[in-house]
Amino acid sequence: MGILDKKVSLVTGAGSGIGRAAALKISAEGSKVIVSDLNESAGKQTVDLIEKRGGSAFFIKADASSAKDNEMLVNEAVKHFGGLHLAVNNAGVGGPSAPTGEYPIEGWDKVISINLSGVFYGMRYQIPAMLKAGGGSIVNIASILGQVGFANAPAYVAAKHGVVGLTKNAALEYSSQKIRVNSVGPGFINTPMIENNLTLEMRTGLVSMHPIGRLGEPDEVAEMIVWLGSDKASFVTGAYFAVDGGYLTK
Ligand SMILES: NC(=O)c1ccc[n+]([C@@H]2O[C@H](COP(=O)([O-])OP(=O)(O)OC[C@H]3O[C@@H](n4cnc5c(N)ncnc54)[C@H](O)[C@@H]3O)[C@@H](O)[C@H]2O)c1
Repeated sequence: MGILDKKVSLVTGAGSGIGRAAALKISAEGSKVIVSDLNESAGKQTVDLIEKRGGSAFFIKADASSAKDNEMLVNEAVKHFGGLHLAVNNAGVGGPSAPTGEYPIEGWDKVISINLSGVFYGMRYQIPAMLKAGGGSIVNIASILGQVGFANAPAYVAAKHGVVGLTKNAALEYSSQKIRVNSVGPGFINTPMIENNLTLEMRTGLVSMHPIGRLGEPDEVAEMIVWLGSDKASFVTGAYFAVDGGYLTK
């Protein structure tokens, strides 16, 4: 028996990093999983990993920054597995690195459309499906940068602060209808997002910002996601949970 038995879950950006770790752990706890990503081969690899471990998963390609894709994704998920109980809005990008006065406009538009509008579009279609299913849980992946600034990342910081606010709003609106909505704020986590965008020197510098003395692992974030998605978190809604090795204590 897992803590997500009989549930149907949807994870965006599930082809890599935190999303893949979440999809695997959600499956290990007994849920069927809709794996979604823009990257088809990466998403299908996650499905393979789940199936090899005896779980049940299905891949649907969708662009998180498209309202139409989010609508299609939820419709197809419900069609395939018969409902929706847990949604993890995780797809995200880092974006360019530049100060606000020099930030590329197209970089701003891209980061906001995936990291912020993507979460709104997700919830816009997930909530009606969850109401039909009799309730559910939404976990939005924010960041420590949803609480504090970080030089040269204005779009990312603005988007993640927005995710924390959107989460509170949806929680306020739907918690009385059995939909809980929470956000998770990872510190810097060892995923391709970090590995591909930062030099070894920059990564070493980041370690010193985490009192625990290392970066996090995707599995450590997935633990929080699974708990929030489960009935163990039945009185938890509208909240922000840091999984950050103490980053925000400073
Ligand atoms: N890695 C970190 O240090 C860190 C820290 C805090 C928050 N986060 C957040 O966690 C989430 C996952 O990050 P990660 O580190 O696992 O990244 P990652 O790059 O390893 O994985 C992101 C996944 O999202 C997918 N994706 C990108 N754009 C998409 C789109 N438009 N539509 C659908 N899928 C798309 C990618 O194909 C990829 O599979 C992001 O929201 C990120 O902002 C990451």
